[in-house]
Formats: sequence, C-alpha cells, structure tokens
Amino acid sequence: MDFGKAIRKDFPIYGRYAGTGLFCYLDSAATSLKPRVVIDAVKEYYEAYSTNVHRAAYSLAERATEEYEGVRAMVAQLIHAPRADEIIFTRNTTESFNMLARTYAEHFIKTGEGILLTEMEHHGNLIPWQELARRKGITLHFIPIDSATGALVWDAATFGTFLKERNIKLISLTHVSNVLGTINPIAKIAAIAHEAGVIVAVDGAQSAPHLPINVQDLGADFFAFSSHKMLGPTGIGILWGRYELLEKMPVFMVGGHMIDDVMSTRATYRAPPLKFEAGTPNIAGTIGFGAAVKYLMDLGMDNVRDHEKMLLTAARHRLADIPGISFLGPMDAEDRSGVLAFTLAGVHPHDIGSLCNEAGVMIRVGDHCARPLHKKLGIPASCRASFSVYNDMDDIELFADVLKTVQKKLSAIPVSLSHDAVSAGNN
Ligand code: ALA
Repeated sequence: MDFGKAIRKDFPIYGRYAGTGLFCYLDSAATSLKPRVVIDAVKEYYEAYSTNVHRAAYSLAERATEEYEGVRAMVAQLIHAPRADEIIFTRNTTESFNMLARTYAEHFIKTGEGILLTEMEHHGNLIPWQELARRKGITLHFIPIDSATGALVWDAATFGTFLKERNIKLISLTHVSNVLGTINPIAKIAAIAHEAGVIVAVDGAQSAPHLPINVQDLGADFFAFSSHKMLGPTGIGILWGRYELLEKMPVFMVGGHMIDDVMSTRATYRAPPLKFEAGTPNIAGTIGFGAAVKYLMDLGMDNVRDHEKMLLTAARHRLADIPGISFLGPMDAEDRSGVLAFTLAGVHPHDIGSLCNEAGVMIRVGDHCARPLHKKLGIPASCRASFSVYNDMDDIELFADVLKTVQKKLSAIPVSLSHDAVSAGNN
C-alpha cells in the first residue's frame, strides 16, 4: 500500500517547507505531524464552543461534553475495547503507567511479590515500576532480549512455572520496541500469564499509531498509548483497562470533577473512567485526538501497517550497502514496525544526526529513552529513522543518499564514543 504524495496536502507543515528541499521528517516515533483535520478540530473548539465539560446547563457546554465524551467511543472502536467507559484520558503513555503503578499495583501487589518487565522497555514503562518497587519492596524481573535478533528470549513451555516461582503478579511490557521495532508476542504471553493469575499491562505507544489493535485479541488487561504519536495533539494519552479492574482500583489524582459526594472530612468518587480524571481535562487535545483517530480509521489501520512495512523494507534495502552500518532489531519486516535504528561503525550518532539535519533529513539520535536497552546492546547510542503515513519513497531515497554522503564524510574522522557524551539530553 502506498498512500502517495496526495496525502501530504492533509498535513499543512509540508506546505510551509514546500520547495525548500529541507523537509524530510523521519522522526514520527518521537512525535507525529498533524493533519489539517486535527488542527481544525482544536481551533473549532477554541473558536466556537470553548466551554467546560460535564458541568453546565447551557448548550455550548453540552456540545463540549458530547464532543469530548464521543472521543472515548472512537478510541474504544479503534482498539476494539468492549466499552467506551474503559477509556481513561491521561496526559500521555508515561502518565498512564504512573497511574497504573500508583493505583492498581500500589494497592494489589504486596511486598515480596514480583513484577515482570522486559529489557527493551522505554523509561516510561520502567521508572514508574522502579519507584513502586523501591516504595513497597517489590522485586522487578526482566525478560531478556536476544541482542542479535531483537526478540524476547522466553520459553512458552516453562513460562507459567517461571511466573509462579518468582511470585510475579503483573507483567508490563511494550507491544512494539521504540528502538528495535520488535513486535512482541503479547497474545501468547498474556494467555500463559492469565493461567498463572498474572495481570498484563501493555505499552502501546509505538503500536497503536502503526498497527491494527484489538485489546481483546491481545489478551491485555491494560493498554496505554499517546495521541501525539498518532497524528493527534500533545498532552493527551489513554489508559484502557478492563472495567472490573478499573472499578476496584483506588483513585489517582483527586479534586474536582471526579467526586460523587463531598463531606468536610471525606469524599466518595464517581464510577470509572471519571474517577481517574481529576480537574478540568485537556478538552481541546481530546477533541483533536478524536479527529486523528477518525483520520487513521478512514485510512484503515491495515493500510497504515502495509504502507509503513513497504517503507521499512525499502529503507533497509537502500541502506544495506553503507559501509559499517548495523541495523538493530529483527530482520523480517513482518516481525517489526516502522522504526529503523542503526549504528555506523566509528561514527558518532550525534554527528550523523547533525549532518542529516543540514540536508533536511530529521532523524533521532541518542538512547531514545531506552538506556538499559542500549547498555544491553553494548552501544551508548544509536540513530533512528521512523516512518508514518505521510512518508513516501522519495523520503527513503533522499535519506539513503544523504546517509551515504554523511558516512563518507564522517568515516574519515576518528571518533571515540562516550556514553556520557552521547546520551546527554536524551532521557
Ligand atoms: N518515546 C519517544 C521516542 O521513542 C519520545 O522517541
């Protein structure tokens, strides 16, 4: 599937840089560009019905409430959640995991019990668990990765016993690695976890924007992701959870908006999802996200996946003969999504990023908020190109040509890589 250049008319930022030859955006895993429909939805809210939700008895505020609540149903449809009231609006994936750690895990996981993560987690699905473990005396365990293939090293035959022996109560793992691109076998892991009575939380930050998602088929109990990586505004994220779990979870942030009744010394709270949404929410961002979800669903998530797979395959092919290039993650495009991380022997990733930038090619360099993964791979940093619906074959051609030139230029200069030097500013 090739969406072609036509799709770019939907993204005003391309118009701004038209004719400059300096706008080749390959950093969508960090954040995506925004289509006109998203910008217009946010503008329309501020210009036409900029009122609060769930509160007032006048029609503009009713419209704001309807538009805001309508997004829950759209998001539920996108990820095949059984109920719209299982969709909690947060700020981003990181806040979703902080909420989960502070509510479900803080309450239901006890001292001496274990949480299982993987070696490929983004800091957003690592540090909330580190802090919980420290507070409560919980042990963190990690599914290792195979550095050569980028796959998790686990054995379905012994996994259930492993979980029981280590007293694991929750697995929190990424669906797609933001560095390796690896698509993890969530459904297989979740099926065994559930037999062992273990809850499964999934980081969907790098999968929801790029793959068709069905949380029920995945067997997830919780699924977290961010609007800004999937064509929507920043400052709005999602935590989806099975309703019976949300019901018994304690509250997170407290204050206005999420209460049922308030006495002077105590309060009772609303049903999920509102009990998790204290204060005035990000109304404009949520409405903008609704427009992004509709845009993606109109394109079709199967088509999005096919388009990005085509770009990934082409990029690997075009870059393969660059001297000293090593790709991170699985070889087969079926096993990975559209992020392509790599190193060039003897060349500093930050220098590659800077010279690419001079040629209008925007890639990310550093540890991509996955420092333990880079340590495991024995590299201080990597370069990462990542694709979305608006990229096309011209981007791949330009990127390959620029990278070839950059490699020639930089390989003449000896560089010693220092972790501190290259990782600064990439947290
Ligand atoms: N988590 C984002 C990334 O991978 C910022 O770039």
